[in-house]
Amino acid sequence: MNVKGTTELLGVIGFPIKHSLSPVFQNAALSYMGIDAVYVPFEIRPEDLKEALNGLRLAGVKGLNVTVPHKEAVLELVDEISDEVEKIGAANTLKFYEGKIVAYNTDWIGFLKAAEELTDLREKKVLVLGAGGASRAVLYALKKVGASVLLWNRTKEKAIRLAKEFEVSVIDNLEEGLEMAEVVVNTTSVGLKDEDKPLFDYGRLSEDHVVIDLIYRETPLVRAAREKGCRFQTGFPMLVYQGAESFRIWTGCEPPVKIMKLSLQDYGYPTESPRTPSRT
Ligand code: ATR
Repeated sequence: MNVKGTTELLGVIGFPIKHSLSPVFQNAALSYMGIDAVYVPFEIRPEDLKEALNGLRLAGVKGLNVTVPHKEAVLELVDEISDEVEKIGAANTLKFYEGKIVAYNTDWIGFLKAAEELTDLREKKVLVLGAGGASRAVLYALKKVGASVLLWNRTKEKAIRLAKEFEVSVIDNLEEGLEMAEVVVNTTSVGLKDEDKPLFDYGRLSEDHVVIDLIYRETPLVRAAREKGCRFQTGFPMLVYQGAESFRIWTGCEPPVKIMKLSLQDYGYPTESPRTPSRT
């Protein structure tokens, strides 16, 4: 890395932040493209967000990714909000431009581009599990491509609220939803830990299901999908594609997605093609 007086600053804000893989693949991309910029993590406590953001603006930072727990809170602190940020209610990308901060959301397009590696979502019946922040970006994306969505959430009231907002259907019975669905998307945090109670009996997956889990690691749901011979995907591709779209916003350059993926191989990025799932 060749940091000079002209080097521009990009980064990611969150709390905690040490686990973030964005610096790994964003710096790989900047370096590959020969762009005179570095991307660094900033651990910022929620109570310091306003001051920190202003400080970063004054320090001349050009762009930021925003992660948990700041994705909603930044909306109050920026000068402009893109249409998709307004609809999703969260931003994951900020661009600093002529002293102003503009908020974008690339999670939804990251989800779509990642899913495209696996299946064509247009007019598919998609079962979405969860009604939190991640679900909002997924629902926005699915509506955008005209998928038919069944939404399930542990707390039904939240699903009903979201379903009204995004004009999708709510489902009570997960097993029934599974039978109707061609694609299953897990947006909940279930599976982060191996001891988490499964959302449903994963043995009920059929090999025709396409399974997408937004969690990076191989969750029990993804493992079950692999064992059934389903096409499946962890959260890694979405992580890369949302970052790639942020990269495009900051630099105006076509993001080197292959380089980004390669840089994550030591961090568990799946090397096997999702088009050729192992059948056991
Ligand atoms: P994120 O921003 O990552 O989506 P979130 O907004 O906290 O995180 O949402 C977490 C989602 O995981 C919610 O849909 C939550 O369900 P509830 O609305 O019922 O809380 C879901 N979730 C978390 N733990 C769960 C569990 N043990 N079983 C089922 N759903 C769970």
